[in-house]
Amino acid sequence: MHKPVLLKEIIEILSPKENENFIDATFGLGSVSFEILKYTHPSGKILAFEWDPELYNLGVKTIKKIKMEKRIKLVNQNFKNLKKVVKEEGFSQIKGVVFDLGISNWHYQESKRGFSFKNDEFLDMRINPNIKITAFEIINYFSYKELVEIFKNYGEEKEAEKIAQIIIDRRKNKRIETSKQLSEIIAQVKKTRRKIHPATLVFMALRSFINDELGNLEKGLKEAYDVLDNGGKIVVLSFNGLEDKIIKNVFKLLKKQSGRIITKRVIKPTVEEIKKNPKARSAKLRAIEKN
Ligand SMILES: C[S@@+](CC[C@H](N)C(=O)[O-])C[C@H]1O[C@@H](n2cnc3c(N)ncnc32)[C@H](O)[C@@H]1O
Repeated sequence: MHKPVLLKEIIEILSPKENENFIDATFGLGSVSFEILKYTHPSGKILAFEWDPELYNLGVKTIKKIKMEKRIKLVNQNFKNLKKVVKEEGFSQIKGVVFDLGISNWHYQESKRGFSFKNDEFLDMRINPNIKITAFEIINYFSYKELVEIFKNYGEEKEAEKIAQIIIDRRKNKRIETSKQLSEIIAQVKKTRRKIHPATLVFMALRSFINDELGNLEKGLKEAYDVLDNGGKIVVLSFNGLEDKIIKNVFKLLKKQSGRIITKRVIKPTVEEIKKNPKARSAKLRAIEKN
């Protein structure tokens, strides 16, 4: 169900070999992990992180079904705690860490948590239910100023003021409860060119803010570098400019600690791949090697 983006390129950079160990920081439905395992038989292992408990449970079942329990250990953890988990699991000789950021197609299509503006679902948008705040609370109770800040700082939405104002006006009469209600309200004040839905950036901003995606990324990347073997690599696939900025900055820092940036030029999907999978259009791949 989840079409992994730039999978061939991820594997080329990681170049997994027999018996090597890797970390998949964002397991999802596991396609990246399963691809790595093909090259690391017979005894290479993967430590995989999946923060969403529903996807974690699904992953545990899949791993059992395909009898890969000995080779993949899936944990229901946030990758921002990567170092602690690696220590607890006694995982070592790590040749690579892969981050495939964001959420999976499963979240848009199956989770029923309001991630997609196409569906009429309660505005939740939490990847993990332990998170304290939902999109519903933000949309219905945050001030105009707070909404503007979230839309700008987490979504780079240029029409943040206009959108925040219509939300404030509408919620006076009736609470805004679902993803469809919110996206229709946004579409009334924002027009976009091409096929991109006018609510795209606001939805991205809400999800990123609620789940602290940028904070997780910065910490996760630094911790990944610490746990790598010399010669090991980090490969990161990101889907928006704010994530990419953090990756570039962290890589710059790691370069000073003897890291070698592998992707002097960012890698992007081909026109062919975007045609087959439109979600790939904003994908960027960067990688660094520890020395
Ligand atoms: C783009 S999907 C990964 C898809 C996966 N590579 C596949 O092939 O199915 C990103 C996944 O990372 C998970 N995730 C997001 N933030 C996370 C975090 N901080 N820690 C661990 N998992 C996270 C999401 O729940 C989602 O399942």
